Amino acid sequence: MHSDQIVRTFVEYFEERGHRRITGSTLLPPPGDRVLFTTSGMHPLTPYLEGRPHPLGSRLVNLQRCLRTTDLDEVGDDTHLTVFEMLGTWSLGDYDGRQSLDWGYGLLTEGFGIDPGLLHATVFGGDGLTGPDVSSLELWQERGVPVELTVEDNWWSNGPTGPCGPDSEIFLWTGETDTPPQSTPTTDDRWVEVWNHVMMRHRRLEDGTLVPLGRRNVDTGLGLERLACLLQGRSSVFECDLFEPWRRILPGPWPLDERSLRLVCDHLRSAVVVIGDGVRPSNTGRGYVLRRLVRRVLTVLRGDDPSRGLVDLPDELVRHTLDRFRQQEDPETVRRVLLDEERRFDRLLERGRQVLSRPRFRGPLGEEDLHYLHETHGLPRELVLSLRAG
Ligand code: ALA
Repeated sequence: MHSDQIVRTFVEYFEERGHRRITGSTLLPPPGDRVLFTTSGMHPLTPYLEGRPHPLGSRLVNLQRCLRTTDLDEVGDDTHLTVFEMLGTWSLGDYDGRQSLDWGYGLLTEGFGIDPGLLHATVFGGDGLTGPDVSSLELWQERGVPVELTVEDNWWSNGPTGPCGPDSEIFLWTGETDTPPQSTPTTDDRWVEVWNHVMMRHRRLEDGTLVPLGRRNVDTGLGLERLACLLQGRSSVFECDLFEPWRRILPGPWPLDERSLRLVCDHLRSAVVVIGDGVRPSNTGRGYVLRRLVRRVLTVLRGDDPSRGLVDLPDELVRHTLDRFRQQEDPETVRRVLLDEERRFDRLLERGRQVLSRPRFRGPLGEEDLHYLHETHGLPRELVLSLRAG
C-alpha cells in the first residue's frame, strides 16, 4: 500500500466516524512554547486538550510533521527518524479510550489487512498516583489481543508539565511468522510500536502534581513512515516508498555504507524540512539543531572522501522533500542555506586545526580545555573531538 493510500485510508476511516480533518501545523510551535519543535500531533492542539473549544468540533484527524531530537542517536536503525509524519486522531471530551482502541483495532485489521494474530498491546498497570487502565485492558482481552502491563512505558506526556495520561500502545510483530510470537514488546524488539492511544485526562503542574483535566480526551499518534514500512513488507523505514527517491539518487554522487546512507538521508531530509519551515542555522535553539544536522552530514560524507560537498546534493531531492511536506520555500533558497552553512563549517574546521596544533592542546584534552576552546574559539566539543579522532 502506497503511503498516500495509507493516509487516505486512515483519514477516511475517521471521517466516516465523525472526525473533521484539520491542517497540520509547521514544525515551529507558537512563541512562548518551551519546546523547540513540534514533537507530536497533539502539540499544536494543546490549548484544545486543555479545554478551549475547537472550531471544527470534538473529533479531529490530521497528518502532522514532527521533529524529535531525543531519537537522534538512534537514527540509522530500522525505525527512528528525526523528522517524520504522524497520523493522529483526537477526541476532545467526546468518546473514550476504549472506543479509540476499538476503532484502531478495526482500522489495522480490516482497513490495512493486518493479521490480528500479529498484534500485541501494552497497557498502563497503575502506580502510586493513578490506578491501572482497566477499560483498555478489558477491550484488548475481548478482542483476543495479548496485553503486557507496564508503568513508565505506558505514561505519555509532551514535556515536564501540561496534559498527560496513561496510554495503550499497539505493536506489530516483525519477526518470522511460521510460529505465533510468544514474547512481549518490552522483552523483544521485533515487536514494533505502531500506534499510541493516550487517555489524556491529567495535567502535570510545575511542582509535579497531577490534576484532572476539565474533560477527558483521547490523543492518538501513528508514525506514517513506520506504518508504510511495515505494510510494504520492508525491514526499515528507509526502504518504504517515502524514501524511494533518496535511496535511488543519493548513492550516485555519494556511495556510502548502509548506516551512513541512512544517516545522510535522514539528516538532509530533516534539514530541508526545517529550512522549509523558516529556520536558519545559528548557535542557539532551533538554528543550532539545524546546524548540528548539517554538520553531522558533512562529517559523515567527508569521512570517506574529503572532496565531497553539498554542491552535489541532487536538486530533485530538495524539491521532492518540499513537495512531500507541502512547503512553499524556494528550492534554491534551501540549497543556498545549506551551502552557506557548509562554507561556515569549513572555515571553522580550518580554525580548529590551527588552534589544536598549538603546543598547549597537543596532549590529552580535559573538560577545561574543551570549555575554553568552545568559549574562546567557538569550537564545539563534538567538532574538537572529531578533529582529534580524525
Ligand atoms: N501524543 C502521542 C504520541 O506522540 C500519541 O505518541
